[in-house]
Amino acid sequence: MAAAPWCSGQACEPLELATAVRIRSGLLIFFYKFGRHFYCMIPSKAECLRLLEKYKVPEHIKEHILQVTRIAIFLGERISKKGQSINLPLLEAASLLHDLDKHLTFEEVQNHGHITAKTLKELDYEELVPLIIRHRMTAINSPGLDTLEEKILYYADMRVNHDRIVSLRERIDYIKERYGTRSPEAMQKICSAEPLVLKIEKEILKKAGVSERLEGLRIGK
Ligand SMILES: [Fe+2]
Repeated sequence: MAAAPWCSGQACEPLELATAVRIRSGLLIFFYKFGRHFYCMIPSKAECLRLLEKYKVPEHIKEHILQVTRIAIFLGERISKKGQSINLPLLEAASLLHDLDKHLTFEEVQNHGHITAKTLKELDYEELVPLIIRHRMTAINSPGLDTLEEKILYYADMRVNHDRIVSLRERIDYIKERYGTRSPEAMQKICSAEPLVLKIEKEILKKAGVSERLEGLRIGK
């Protein structure tokens, strides 16, 4: 009998061969079912764009998303070139998907990000969830921002009003007007976040080596 590839040198008895096949099949099933949870799954740009279509994200929100992504990648690449470790595929995917549920949560803003997080968990894209949950302005109060990728996406989103790049001041004033006027509690959370946002801007711009004009960013409105 010829040697099976998993046997070295000597031929396997039929019983050993069947056992080896069963073990190998078992291992394949195990790694298919559970192995994917041990390494991160990050959707490609094409997959992110497909998800925006699938979940019917309106055109004006897509424009906003693309502008945020341009800024995030611009800052991420600059910081990376200066020697800090940035997971650019993760940053790009989270930027492209950060407002996946925006059109579903205009009224119930407290749900913004959480619907996207649930969807991404179901798709096994758990790695993106912290960035998605923490991109809202008031998330900087609690739970706060941990990683550089979270800070970059957060800041990039704070620099885009609709599809236009604006100063942080203009964006904060817009958020106060749009969401802060809904309740005293909402305004209080925004006001608590404000100094922390200004601090994040300083940190990110310093790391990227640019001013708030984002010199070198090629596309902008
Ligand atoms: Fe956004």
